[in-house]
Amino acid sequence: MNSNLNNIMHEALNSLKQVQSLQQLDVVKAEYLGKNGKISQQMQQLKTLAADEKKQFGQQINQLKLEFEQQLSERKQQILNQQLQTKLAQESIDVSLDGKNNHAGSLHPIYLTLNRMLHIFAALGFDVGDGPEIESDYYNFNALNIPANHPARAMQDTFYIDATHVLRTHTSPIQIRYAEQKTPPIKLIAPGRVYRVDMDATHSPMFHQIEGLWIDENITFANLKGIIIEFLRRFFANEQLQIRFRASFFPFTEPSAEVDILSSDGKWLEVLGCGMVHPTVLENMNIDSARYNGFAFGMGIDRFTMLKYGIHDLRLMFENDIDFIRQFRGMNEVK
Ligand code: PHE
Repeated sequence: MNSNLNNIMHEALNSLKQVQSLQQLDVVKAEYLGKNGKISQQMQQLKTLAADEKKQFGQQINQLKLEFEQQLSERKQQILNQQLQTKLAQESIDVSLDGKNNHAGSLHPIYLTLNRMLHIFAALGFDVGDGPEIESDYYNFNALNIPANHPARAMQDTFYIDATHVLRTHTSPIQIRYAEQKTPPIKLIAPGRVYRVDMDATHSPMFHQIEGLWIDENITFANLKGIIIEFLRRFFANEQLQIRFRASFFPFTEPSAEVDILSSDGKWLEVLGCGMVHPTVLENMNIDSARYNGFAFGMGIDRFTMLKYGIHDLRLMFENDIDFIRQFRGMNEVK
């Protein structure tokens, strides 16, 4: 082959090797086989040659052209194959991978207990109330007849925000806030977080209480007993539950009692505090203590949760260990 054609051939094959896409391939194709392409130009020279040269040169150009076309179609095939491989790789699915799991959440056991309590008290005609967790010492202590020298007020028992504000130490201030705004009859149930400086297997610096208040004319201790007994038997789903009222003391109730239930292993367990609302507290609620009276009670929601589900360490309820929490999945305590 003449050296010029050889050069063209060499150059063409090189260009083909570098081509990476079908578009680039078309450009190279036009560069050699297009109307003014390098191979086409050679063909046009044929007519200028003498007959014998023409024959030989003609054969060589044809050979070059055929060779180029063949390489062109091979390269095209290679590019198509590469494109297919990349596409397959990009779209491949690893069928051994885990699927996306939508884990259904569940209510925390404390909320299961709270819902159960609210459900029972709603059926007994109680309204649900709320109040602030940062409370003035007036609502947390004074209005509840808790004297200035009472141990509950000491720094080692109460978290102080400033000289006159505390993290509420019980849900009882909600009683005052609610009753101030209403006239009897008042039937309130008020759940919430409360705070005390305390931390061990049965005490947490933050825990939950639920408060009850019923004020009307002619409310007696018998009404208090009736509500508490009814509530406890419904809550523990045990009509035979043994309950005892033990005389006790709270500054805001008179008389006061603590309530115990008999556990299945024969032990009395304290579950709540209660009593007839102290006349001073009624007056602080702007309620005429000569005409109205009532009772109040308060209990720990966490403690009820532990009793209901057999949880022995209070701290488990605030660690949010996923294996602990998952055990309550699917439980619906409101039935
Ligand atoms: N507030 C009391 C406590 O935290 C409980 C209580 C509430 C007692 C209402 C009597 C009446 O211990």
